[in-house]
Amino acid sequence: MIERISQLRAEGEAAVAAARDSAALEQARVRHLGRKAELPNLLRGVSELSPAQRGAVGKAANEARRALEELIAARASELEAAELERRLTHDRVDVTLPGDPRHALGRLHLLTATRREIEDVFVGLGFSVLEGPEVETVYYNFEALNHAETHPARLWSDTFYFSEEILLRTHTSPMQIRAMEAGPPPIYVIVPGRVYRRDSDATHTPQFHQIEGLAVDEEITLADLQGTLLQFARAIFGERREVRLRPHFFPFTEPSVEVDVSCFHCSDGVAPTTGFAGGARGRCPLCKGTGWIEILGAGMVDPNVFSHVREQGYDPELVQGFAFGMGVERIAMLKHGIPDLRHFYDNDVRFAEQFG
Ligand code: PHE
Repeated sequence: MIERISQLRAEGEAAVAAARDSAALEQARVRHLGRKAELPNLLRGVSELSPAQRGAVGKAANEARRALEELIAARASELEAAELERRLTHDRVDVTLPGDPRHALGRLHLLTATRREIEDVFVGLGFSVLEGPEVETVYYNFEALNHAETHPARLWSDTFYFSEEILLRTHTSPMQIRAMEAGPPPIYVIVPGRVYRRDSDATHTPQFHQIEGLAVDEEITLADLQGTLLQFARAIFGERREVRLRPHFFPFTEPSVEVDVSCFHCSDGVAPTTGFAGGARGRCPLCKGTGWIEILGAGMVDPNVFSHVREQGYDPELVQGFAFGMGVERIAMLKHGIPDLRHFYDNDVRFAEQFG
């Protein structure tokens, strides 16, 4: 009987060694150690043997079973590892392959692309980008910016108020005050963001986007403003552009200017023979024959504005600054010849797909 046991053990070992995969190994296990297999049956019969045989046979059969079990376990983990390895190499997913069917690729909205383009120009000039709240107080939106109680923009008919004190900002300029409150000069920041006015037609939407600029330092002059905006205009509208400053009025800058860029559709107000003018050589539709296009408002920071942040180090006897504010929609419309502001918000893919 001892001999039969070692024969069974050898057969089992051979079967395990021959198993090429987990399924074959499982078959070998069932055949040699399963409920109907000879070795386990033999073990179950040990108690019926004569006491003389019982010890030796029991020991040999037990050893044979344990040896086979261990062998199977070792072989199983070997096979599993090899099979996993094979699956990993065969099932490898190439995530860089295009989807099937190919997904439509999104793109940046023209307003987002334009905002980023403008930000890049000013970041390149050393400005940081800040953002601020769209829900503002009358103090930041008007009062600290030197708007008289009677200024027309403060009317309830022009501005969205939540209460006497709280409103939707009408421009990004309140961030001039907040930025200066947050830290002493020098400061060079731009502030992109949404602004709101009670207006709606082909050139006005109740919500639109501005980018504010503020630079405060020692010995800042109007020439710095002009030089900065010249760089901006050339980066956005082309290397050959010029800018000019025209006197204007804003409550929070003194002097105040409107800034024009030389027309990039014509020269000297005469439209070229091609382009979106439609052919006929005549008065340029973009600059209305003037050769200049208004792009933004700006000026030197009014000392009255500094008086609200004097404690933070903005002494108008020591520092000066310039500020500017531009409409992102306006810049994009000019640059791309877009005739109606509402195209930006219609979400018509035929429009959106032309950009980005
Ligand atoms: N906030 C002004 C507007 O919305 C623009 C502006 C900003 C003018 C900064 C001067 C300085 O019209």
